[in-house]
Parts: sequence; structure tokens; C-alpha cells
Amino acid sequence: MSQKVTRRQFMNYSLMGVGSFMAAGMILPMGRFAIDPLFTESSAGDMITTSVKIDDITEEPVSVDFTFEQKDGWYVSEVTDFAWVYREGNEIIALSPVCKHLGCTVSWATDSANPDRFFCPCHNGLYEKNGANVPGTPPRGPLDMFEVGESDGYLTIGAIHENELV
Ligand code: FES
Repeated sequence: MSQKVTRRQFMNYSLMGVGSFMAAGMILPMGRFAIDPLFTESSAGDMITTSVKIDDITEEPVSVDFTFEQKDGWYVSEVTDFAWVYREGNEIIALSPVCKHLGCTVSWATDSANPDRFFCPCHNGLYEKNGANVPGTPPRGPLDMFEVGESDGYLTIGAIHENELV
């Protein structure tokens, strides 16, 4: 037996086909946009060149600024952070200034009673020069540290990781 397609059915199929094609044309780009960050290369792990010459770094910790692009989904912003940087023999150390108690910013030698330690003013947290938290003060762990390197004589700073000195 033969099945004939009526004019009305033909029109319905045609409209459904054209409608589906147009919907796909709109939805596919939207879907691609929605998952775009998954296809974007991350810059995590890149080394950032600072304005500090390696030869100028001494045994006294100094704050060194570094700027990087931060991607949050589609939003890209420029963020400036800093590290406490000093020399220990031939090694360059870059410590995170973020207190491991509640995240305040620590500073070097600002507590007159502890001139050779990092001090957190929020709850009187103390850290040794290598980032070790001083027992009896609020912080429960050592300061994190950054990867460091050199580019044309200048200090480069990379990913943050757990303190390897303590
Ligand atoms: S946040 Fe640093 S001691 Fe509490």
C-alpha cells in the first residue's frame, strides 16, 4: 500500500525542518559561548617578570609587586599582588604575605618586640623569616611560597605552593 503525503503534511514537515535549522543556528553559538572558558588556554603557571633585579635582592625581606591577568569565566581583570622576597645564600625566597590564620596581610619586622619576624596585626600572629608559624600565636601553618626564577637578570614569580622550607 502506498502512503501519500498530503499538501498539509508536506507544509508541516517543511516548516519543522526550517524551524529546526534556524533554532540550531541560534542555539549552537550560544552553547559555544556558554562553555567558552573550557576552550580558553589558562595562563596559570606562567612566570611573571617583576621590576626587581636579582642582584639587588638582599637578606632583608622586601615586598615585591607583580601583576597578572586573572580570568574568572569570561571576566578578565588585571590583579597586582606582592611577595616578601629575600636572599638566603644563593637561593631567592618569595613568601606569600597572606596570613594562614584568617588571611590578613603579614609584614616584615613591624612588631618592635619581634624585629626579625613577620607580623600579622589582626591577631598578633608571628612567623619566622622562613615563613614558619611561631607556636603559641594564632596561625596554624607556615606562609606559602611562590616559585621564583630569573629573566634577563630580573626576578620572575610563578605559582604559589606550600612552604618547602619548614
Ligand atoms: S589573621 Fe593573621 S593572626 Fe589572625
